[in-house]
Amino acid sequence: MNLFDVYPINPINIVRAKGSTVWDANGNEYLDLYGGHAVISIGHTHPHYVESITKQLHNIGFYSNSVEIPIQKELATKLGRVSGKEDYTLFLCNSGAEANENALKLASFHTGRKKVIAFSKAFHGRTSLAVAATDNPAIVAPVNETDNVIFLPFNDEEALQKAFDSFGDDVAAVIIEGIQGVGGIRESSIPFLKLIRTLCDKFESVFIADSVQCGYGRTGLFYSHDYSGIQADIYSMAKGMGNGFPIGAIAISPKFKASYGLLGTTFGGNHLACAAAVSVLDIIEQDNLLTNARDIGTYLIEELQKFDKVQEVRGRGLMIGIELPVELASVKKDLLLKNKIFTGEAKPNVIRILPALNITKAHADQFLSALDERLKD
Ligand SMILES: Cc1ncc(COP(=O)(O)O)c(C=O)c1O
Repeated sequence: MNLFDVYPINPINIVRAKGSTVWDANGNEYLDLYGGHAVISIGHTHPHYVESITKQLHNIGFYSNSVEIPIQKELATKLGRVSGKEDYTLFLCNSGAEANENALKLASFHTGRKKVIAFSKAFHGRTSLAVAATDNPAIVAPVNETDNVIFLPFNDEEALQKAFDSFGDDVAAVIIEGIQGVGGIRESSIPFLKLIRTLCDKFESVFIADSVQCGYGRTGLFYSHDYSGIQADIYSMAKGMGNGFPIGAIAISPKFKASYGLLGTTFGGNHLACAAAVSVLDIIEQDNLLTNARDIGTYLIEELQKFDKVQEVRGRGLMIGIELPVELASVKKDLLLKNKIFTGEAKPNVIRILPALNITKAHADQFLSALDERLKD
């Protein structure tokens, strides 16, 4: 059997990893500033992470949500503390799309309404309603098409106000990334997030903060929406949560009422995934990784702004977009092949930096001098 060929892949077989360094099968060493797409939060094969998962696996790896799983409560308590949302409740699932799917579904159950407001260039996942709320017709199958999702221009306060004025009573939810990732590292403006909060309060709609990529400390605050000072009703999360072990979740404000069967999943909240997620939070807390993300991120952004050939630097903390002129779109590939540095991209000409939250200044400097070399080519 062959693999269903949906991923354009680099011909590199990574066989070993430690921190922000990975090695391929030929022994080549790479600096990982991509983190497998913003997933590696505490660094590859972190000893505490490996030990926690191994220990859990020796006891029990999985049992269903039909029995007590105390490590779920441990995770919820730690997450509440680290994220500053102790009064929220936690629903555990397996991926970012599934988190958004549940967030949207819960908003609709709660309000009894059908309309969802999403924004231009948004990415919320590839499953039914999450993909319908994603602004990319190429990945929306005919069966996912729905009139229930209304796209508005990103950061356009007037358009948002007008939409609520005309059909606000039908709006179940507004869903927005604090910083759009796939959309090219574009930050939601603070006045825009505040207006969403005001309108959701006025019309009793649900504010969903998609934090799958921009959350979990990546920007220096736990949720990137926190920079605006607002509280969302639901935060969705996944990528950095398990440092590579599949786990997703939604944090739900106290205004929502749970009932048996309202949401559910077979694998969500399994022992092994929770052990991974608890160990990630341990390290985030112990090693002050939010502060490191903010400090190294600020340093990188300031240094990147000094490059003449860089058109724009966007983002916060360790979620950085470097926009290059279109004719320099090959720099990302050259960084990988010539300098052995993994970065991400937003097509066609934005390099995305999404490293582990504990990268060092030395890693940042290695990247800056490699970029300098590439831009002199
Ligand atoms: C903002 C955002 N939401 C949702 C998702 C979907 O997450 P997953 O791929 O885990 O389903 C992604 C993935 O890139 C994302 O960036």
